[in-house]
Amino acid sequence: MKDDNRKVLNSLFKLMKPYSKSFVLFFFAILFQASISVLFPFIFSYLINEVYYNKNLSVLGSVIGIYLILFLIRSLLNLVESRIKANMLTDFLLDIRSKTFNSIIFLKPKYMNDINIGEEIMKLNKDMEHIFYFVYGIFYNITDAIKLILTLIIIYTMNKELFLIILFIVPCIVVLSHKLGGKISKENMKYRKECGKLSGWLFEIIQGIRDIRLMSAHKSVIDLYKEKLNKINNKEMKLNLNNAIIERIISFAELIGTLIVYVSSVIFISAGKLSIGGFVAIIDYFGNTQGLLGSLATSQVTLCKDFEYIKNLLNYMEQCLEKGEAFNSSNNTYISSSEIEFCNVDFGYDNRDKILDNINFKIKSGETIAITGKNGSGKSTLMNLLMRFYEADEGKITLGNVDIREIPLDYLRKYCGIVLQDHMVFDGSIKDNLQIGNENCSFEDLVELCKKVNLYDFICGLPAGMDTILGTEGIQLSGGQKQRLCIARVLLRNPEIIIFDEATSALDSETEKIIMETIECYKGKKTIIFITHSLSMVQIADRVLSMDSE
Ligand SMILES: Nc1ncnc2c1ncn2[C@@H]1O[C@H](COP(=O)(O)OP(=O)(O)O)[C@@H](O)[C@H]1O
Ligand SMILES: [Mg+2]
Repeated sequence: MKDDNRKVLNSLFKLMKPYSKSFVLFFFAILFQASISVLFPFIFSYLINEVYYNKNLSVLGSVIGIYLILFLIRSLLNLVESRIKANMLTDFLLDIRSKTFNSIIFLKPKYMNDINIGEEIMKLNKDMEHIFYFVYGIFYNITDAIKLILTLIIIYTMNKELFLIILFIVPCIVVLSHKLGGKISKENMKYRKECGKLSGWLFEIIQGIRDIRLMSAHKSVIDLYKEKLNKINNKEMKLNLNNAIIERIISFAELIGTLIVYVSSVIFISAGKLSIGGFVAIIDYFGNTQGLLGSLATSQVTLCKDFEYIKNLLNYMEQCLEKGEAFNSSNNTYISSSEIEFCNVDFGYDNRDKILDNINFKIKSGETIAITGKNGSGKSTLMNLLMRFYEADEGKITLGNVDIREIPLDYLRKYCGIVLQDHMVFDGSIKDNLQIGNENCSFEDLVELCKKVNLYDFICGLPAGMDTILGTEGIQLSGGQKQRLCIARVLLRNPEIIIFDEATSALDSETEKIIMETIECYKGKKTIIFITHSLSMVQIADRVLSMDSE
């Protein structure tokens, strides 16, 4: 449990690190403001003592001057505080939000179809704000605690006995008002629930008003309503009375506390143990300690709640998200060849039935391979494993003799391009769609690839050419055109291994022909894996692997 909390705090520190300068500045801004506020009554007590005991009116000017200067400094610090907070509200929060969105993009494939998890994570994205509240809550709490300590120290220096009295009274008042205040809010909650129930009942009655009239039951319904209303009214009256009593009790406790401090102060003044100035300051400090201790106590609850939100969020990220190791694009030497090898691979989704049982095969660099097999024989599963959407239960998969678990995800997925049966076409222009994942492509590359997949003439015929908008707001492509666009998108990345996973099964013969021609174009230069259940399409391959026999 403790380890868990430490982990959460560590993650939180990591999130805060880029903003450490602002946080430090913010902390000092609120800390100095707090210290200045603590000084004010002290300075005032000095003034009173000087004037009253020493008849020294000359300090008046300098005290007022110091007061004004401190006030000015505090206002400036307050400005700094507000400014940093406003900046952080946009920068820090935006940063955490975009980090969560990044994480959503990396949702583990096994959760990708789980809408509940998606919804949950969207909700958590909203809950991100609690990180903000938590961080600031901690800062304010620390300053409140320091302020409280400073105040107590000053009281102690003024009069030790009064310090002890205040140290005893204040916690008593705070605990009492919290206990009783908590009771009030609990009772209020209960009452609101009752009111909600009554509204629900009324709604039902209104819906069934026809039946009630038909059954001539209106009188009994009206009586029932009156009865329910009466009950609720009685409850409200009781509640109001209780609230008033509890408020009085709290006020009474505060009064007693204040009286004790006043009376003992008077005794100490008459005994010469406390100055008049000290008395004025202590009364001020006494009120402050109550406020500070009270707010420290209430903020614990909110802080704990915020912390739970954060824990929940980070746990989700831990469980449901793929760890995308950073990959340094300048280091391109992870894999020296595109040889793929599956070695004794076993796999089943969610530990259910084995889909793949002791699979062994090797695909050499530059080979064109057809993988055939019945529907559900695990062909796409092979590719899911190769792309590390899932991990093999047993055995190992290597790419260029490197275990794929050691290859950064980003690198692996740039290295292999998969054309699926139905790819996503995003809302946006044709160019945007082609450039997803290929942001650095030149326009010439786009044109060349569109020509290769026989899409160029069609694009030229569109009024806005490459800038034509697709999707809900734009034109709709036919299945064949979509497929060609998606093939172009994958080929643009110039992957070393190109995988066509039933890329033609739902398409017309013309598109099929285009894909065959495209494959032909890349044959020998790239490793091509061609997944199909149609035997007539495998002539193009150097070799056929059948999943049915394995
Ligand atoms: N994401 C998944 N979760 C659970 N089971 C799956 C998942 N994807 C595929 N399967 C199951 O695994 C088996 C093999 O699927 P798949 O590899 O897609 O077959 P193929 O591509 O050869 O048609 C099927 O029985 C399928 O129902
Ligand atoms: Mg499949």
